[in-house]
Amino acid sequence: MARRPLVAGNWKMNGLKASAAELTKIVAGASSLPNADFLICPPATLVAQFAALAKGSRVAIGGQDCRAEPSGAFTGDIAAEMLKDAGASAVIVGHSERRRYHGETDAAVRAKAQAARRAGLLAVVCVGESRAERDAGQALAAVGKQLDGSLPDGETDCVVAYEPVWAIGTGVTPTQDDVIAMHGFIRERLVARGVASGQGVRILYGGSVKPANARELLTAANVDGALIGGASLKADDFLAIAAVYR
Ligand code: PGA
Repeated sequence: MARRPLVAGNWKMNGLKASAAELTKIVAGASSLPNADFLICPPATLVAQFAALAKGSRVAIGGQDCRAEPSGAFTGDIAAEMLKDAGASAVIVGHSERRRYHGETDAAVRAKAQAARRAGLLAVVCVGESRAERDAGQALAAVGKQLDGSLPDGETDCVVAYEPVWAIGTGVTPTQDDVIAMHGFIRERLVARGVASGQGVRILYGGSVKPANARELLTAANVDGALIGGASLKADDFLAIAAVYR
């Protein structure tokens, strides 16, 4: 099944209003890369501004997290509906930094993914094993458990991002063979757990994707794009990675 690649940028806690200049460059560059979809997830403070700027372009704007409830007394949190209202069309849920610094469980991530669907946002559901889990030969088992717990039942319209925790922000990446093994495993799991269009769900790789390693990582079987942190902050690097899909 042909899946359109998705090149997504996760800006994390980086970016001020002036960063719109980078988005403008990304929007311009994306227009000459018709074979991929694009998503930039800036901090929440920039979602409305970026959505307005990218309107009508090939670049969608997303949030980095949402709360499961649609509204209420949850100081500091943001509902999926609020992201949608601000112009977002997607949201990352279950990023390893949220799991680690905010104690998010698989059940919490699943509730967030359900909230995304309720609000009409595409959920980018993140999974990935720790270094200790990989060293213990438990990488597939750990990711399988996260997938089962984090994806809503019957979810068909979401994106899965495989991000080995030890590869995020470290400059270290798995081998292509390890990526192929993990993405193949995730694909089988999506199909086996009854996700109707498991073959159509895009599985992104994330963790230290750079222009220099993009081809090796992103052309592996069952890799349908990238979730890019550090290198997405510079339009030139982000577009150089996306050029793999030229
Ligand atoms: P990185 O981050 O590209 O800086 O490793 C990836 C991510 O956390 O999504």
